[in-house]
Amino acid sequence: MLRQLMSYVKNCSRKRKYVEDDDEKGKREDLSNGNILNGNMAANNFVKPCQLKAPLVVTIVGLPFRGKSLAAHKISRNLFWKGEKVKVFEVEESANEETLKSISEWFGNSNNVAIIDGMHLTKQSRTLVGNYCRKNVYHHLIVEFECEPDCVEENINDTAEFYQKIDNNQDWLQTFREKNAKYKSSFEKCLPQEGALINVTNSENVLVHSVRARGVQGLLQTIILGVLSSPVIKHRVFYFSRHGESEFNVLGRIGGDADLSPRGKKYSENLAKQLGGPGSSPNAPKPRLIWTSELQRTIHTVQNIPGPRTALKDLNEINAGICEGLTYEEIQERFPQEFAWRDADKLKYRYPHGESYLDLLQRVDGVVQALLLNTEVLVVSHQAVLRCILAYFKGSKPEEIPYVNVPLHTLLIVKSHGYDFKIETVPLKVECVDTYRMQPSNCSIMRTTQEALTTVPQHFDAPLIN
Ligand code: F6P
Repeated sequence: MLRQLMSYVKNCSRKRKYVEDDDEKGKREDLSNGNILNGNMAANNFVKPCQLKAPLVVTIVGLPFRGKSLAAHKISRNLFWKGEKVKVFEVEESANEETLKSISEWFGNSNNVAIIDGMHLTKQSRTLVGNYCRKNVYHHLIVEFECEPDCVEENINDTAEFYQKIDNNQDWLQTFREKNAKYKSSFEKCLPQEGALINVTNSENVLVHSVRARGVQGLLQTIILGVLSSPVIKHRVFYFSRHGESEFNVLGRIGGDADLSPRGKKYSENLAKQLGGPGSSPNAPKPRLIWTSELQRTIHTVQNIPGPRTALKDLNEINAGICEGLTYEEIQERFPQEFAWRDADKLKYRYPHGESYLDLLQRVDGVVQALLLNTEVLVVSHQAVLRCILAYFKGSKPEEIPYVNVPLHTLLIVKSHGYDFKIETVPLKVECVDTYRMQPSNCSIMRTTQEALTTVPQHFDAPLIN
């Protein structure tokens, strides 16, 4: 496998040298003149092959009100969450030289994905970007959006309603209807010769929404294809909560499968009051779906909330491996080096025989994708897992994720707002311990015990289990 990879890499560099010979210049010039067909034929024979890790430019194509911006930002959010350095470049109609210059600057600063959110209705406008990518040896992916007429009408109405709330001095419905009509005649559909293409027939209805792909290659483009394959639901609300305080939380112990403490039980009653359970007001929201982990503290937290429930293994708390059931003090005592390594790089650190935050991010990917296909879902899970899920909606940087604050006894309501999400924090006022441990200033393995424990939150005395 390794030999195959090395020979592929050598082959690539040989090909690169070949295209740089003078007698090939003419062919390259031909490409920059925008001869798409020759360009594509040449792509197979003469053009420099892109390196596996070369930057990617995504050109968004489509008439107004086809859901392009929502999808562009959905791609961006997903890639950012996965640790890619991505930016959406908004353009009125099509990218121009100025846009390409900004993209070059963006890539110059070690970033790797640029999404150009515009209409790019003409072949010529796409060729400009295509040639720029060939010249710089960047990957290029075109994503073309289309919609059934009733979906366009719905999008126009929705957008008008959104803008009307912000500025009521204009007739937005009329403005947007005119905008939709204005561009129709100038749209030239994307052709196979133009390069890698994903064509999306956009709809909120899963049975209408469809995706066709041609020439998609590599991990990033495959992720984008995955993101686009499910519809973007415009109006969504999700409820998130940690389980009520557990008997382990009280003692400062991590992991395990302890039951709720008496205060944790009180929280479960209060949470039910907020979400359609006993004692709730008639207009309290009632979740359509309730997802918990397989651990009893989450299952018991939702026991009084009405609605269909599923216990998902993917929502179980981070597996702390050899540290399961210990307090942070005991981890420092037994495994001081592990404790320091975790503090130094909590995102990547994997507990021996357990998991890291990076592992968790992969584990919850499916949960987030499933959430996005639904609305009014209540997710009751755990500190580390909810950090990873909430990071998607908050747009947190990967290194911030292990320190996202998700307090106990607090309901978090996440609502879509355009292509963004707003998070409302509702503390339910039932006393509980704090389990948040800040990164200490000294993460060296040479630190003293006192330095290692400075940020450990207070808890009741916890007799050693073993
Ligand atoms: O302390 C509660 C808890 O859910 C533990 O079970 C888990 O190991 C921990 O939080 C995760 O938080 P951190 O990654 O900050 O240690």
